[in-house]
Amino acid sequence: MEPAKPTNYWDYIRVEEVLSLQGGLNETEDELDNSEVLFITVHQIYELWFKLVLREMRSLRDFFHQERVEEQAMSNAARSIKRVVTVLRQCVTHFEVIETLTTREYLGFRDKLMPASGFQSAQLRQIEILMGLDDTERVPLGLDESYMDALRAHDGTESPAYLRVQAAKLDTPSLAQAIEAWLFRTPIGGKYAHEEGAETALQRFVDDYVGAHARTVDKSAALALARAFTPSDRERLGARYAKEKAAIEEFLAPDGGGGRRQRVRAAMIFLVSYRELPLLAWPREVLDGLIELEQVFVIFRQRHARMVERVIGRRTGTGGSEGVDYLDRTALNYRVFRDLWAVRTYQIPSEMNPDLEQADFYDFRNG
Ligand code: HEM
Repeated sequence: MEPAKPTNYWDYIRVEEVLSLQGGLNETEDELDNSEVLFITVHQIYELWFKLVLREMRSLRDFFHQERVEEQAMSNAARSIKRVVTVLRQCVTHFEVIETLTTREYLGFRDKLMPASGFQSAQLRQIEILMGLDDTERVPLGLDESYMDALRAHDGTESPAYLRVQAAKLDTPSLAQAIEAWLFRTPIGGKYAHEEGAETALQRFVDDYVGAHARTVDKSAALALARAFTPSDRERLGARYAKEKAAIEEFLAPDGGGGRRQRVRAAMIFLVSYRELPLLAWPREVLDGLIELEQVFVIFRQRHARMVERVIGRRTGTGGSEGVDYLDRTALNYRVFRDLWAVRTYQIPSEMNPDLEQADFYDFRNG
């Protein structure tokens, strides 16, 4: 066998090619000032971060999409989520670099961009779609064109960006759907969904948990009411706590779809409630990781909006949106793992947890 050819750093990393790409609409960057080169470079770095997030998220989705998810491999999934979180955290702090642009510096070349905008970042759309953001939840740009139209070339044809996002829509299931299917398969009360007695075990857990939750809320309500000063405060607090009890009943109510949603939601509560059981340790890490992932994504959107407010104020965006107001609305509204967030509201102290049925089922077994 021929010895492997020695490699150079510049060949492997493709340094010369990468460094030749910061000229924007010009052939080279020679005619551009430092601010514009910074603007282009920072965006390119973001696109590379997005690329890594997409790759990692796709592997995660594939992992959870398997018929059977191996318990031993679960720690790899938790690590993979951690990696996505770490990259997104870089995306959050990275806005500091672009904030070194003064408003006047940016305005010096902003017109060149019109009507281009980060709104045309296909990779951000791919991430949202792969994660599971539903089109019906999208905040409209405030123009007639949809986010898909914004990805068309100026002559209306389908650009590479358009085709990428279109392909992302066909690439199912989303991460959220794959996670949901995995949660559906989680044994509750020692019974898998397809096993005899599964429904009874599920219903028993739901009833016990709702009861334990009600006792927890009653305890908090008694403490709060004891220090309420006026009758109207007592009334308001009483109503608030009553609403909490009603909310979990609705959250865990049996649903029409063969009990699928109820089982998935119950599995979330089950996994986080009995976190000390060995077999539930990694699944719990996964659920915590998904919350962290979505949290950092929201913070990314908020951070972008604050950077934009600092650089251009509240003027109309180059893509034609209301600018900061539009961005703030996306930060407020875009959520994929809503049920996981809801479970944070419904968790109770461990000493209030109902006794676990078939606890030894959840121990690690030898052999
Ligand atoms: C001076 C710097 C920047 C300004 C003033 C700015 C401004 C804006 C504005 C106003 C929008 C709303 C759409 C529109 O009307 O154009 C937007 C969207 C967006 N921007 Fe920026 N941006 C800047 C830098 C960046 C950077 C560095 C990134 C890195 C990826 C980025 C990514 C995005 C993305 C992905 C969207 C679409 C958000 C969505 O639709 O959910 N922007 N930007």
